[in-house]
Amino acid sequence: MAMQTSTVRPYAESDFAQLVELLRQRAPIPGQPRVSSEMVQAALNGTSPIDGGWWAELTNLRHLVVPDNGNLAGAVAVGTSKADGAGYLLWLAADDNEVVETLVDAAVSALEGTSVQRAFSFATALDEGLEGLPVRLRPVVHQALLSRGFAGEDMWVYMRRDLTATDSMLADDDLVAAFTVSDGEDPQSWRITADGGADEGVVVIGLLPSGTGIVEWLHVDDAHRGRGLGKAVLSVGLRHLVSLGATEAILYVDHDAPETERDRAAALALYEAAGFEVVDHLHSYERPGS
Ligand SMILES: CC(C)(COP(=O)(O)OP(=O)(O)OC[C@H]1O[C@@H](n2cnc3c(N)ncnc32)[C@H](O)[C@@H]1OP(=O)(O)O)[C@@H](O)C(=O)NCCC(=O)NCCS
Repeated sequence: MAMQTSTVRPYAESDFAQLVELLRQRAPIPGQPRVSSEMVQAALNGTSPIDGGWWAELTNLRHLVVPDNGNLAGAVAVGTSKADGAGYLLWLAADDNEVVETLVDAAVSALEGTSVQRAFSFATALDEGLEGLPVRLRPVVHQALLSRGFAGEDMWVYMRRDLTATDSMLADDDLVAAFTVSDGEDPQSWRITADGGADEGVVVIGLLPSGTGIVEWLHVDDAHRGRGLGKAVLSVGLRHLVSLGATEAILYVDHDAPETERDRAAALALYEAAGFEVVDHLHSYERPGS
């Protein structure tokens, strides 16, 4: 069906229900919650449970929409950093090529005069921690950004797995007894270490507002690697998540520094061996200011 997609106009409060509908109609991202009205309201307000500090740095937050016969065909959010004057395309909801290109062009012109323009640089209230664009699931947005002169960088590997009480990857009682669970730094997060709190192997896990489990951090000291400790502490973490009621777990592996001391090849292999599957790669983008 041909759409009238040439018009972009500022978002109005009366668009709210259509905006929620637009966001909910997009293909779901595995491991991410269905978008709620509260999440949309938070995004419009310029707040985010994750990366909230980045959002607090923004000024001149604007939302633009493409109307389509009483509905919305797409929407984009832009803002400017108070700290360094960089322009940000924060999120973009549309999958039709023409609508996406129209919105990227509108975002770039709304950010005219900014020193540098960035896209999908940090998480939003619309998901649980996607600090980048999932490029395989949102290919049209990815291509439109590249065609408009944005360079993309592969920042994160996003993985998920189901969790069930009968999962063979969960630690047994003896293994659980060899580790200590303590509260993490964030609410609803836990730190699991070898018994006695020794830090040679540690996993930090959390429960997201949706009830999904997250593996926030995993580390084994150099001297103790290659002997199964990473796998063991992860299996204790996953069992703890199941005991908290989680039926799936997600994690993000930083992927921006391969072949350095932050190379994550071992971690990626471990997570895959533990049943996590790659959902997507998350890219962030930048282009010189215009
Ligand atoms: C990732 C890490 C925790 C692994 O700890 P570990 O105790 O050495 O891992 P394990 O001995 O339990 O290995 C379990 C599995 O992981 C994989 N693995 C571990 N080290 C690997 C390596 N160097 N290369 C390839 N695969 C590796 C293997 O599949 C292995 O199973 P196998 O021994 O049956 O082949 C450890 O290398 C580390 O702390 N790295 C730095 C921190 C980090 O990258 N954290 C993840 C951030 S997202």
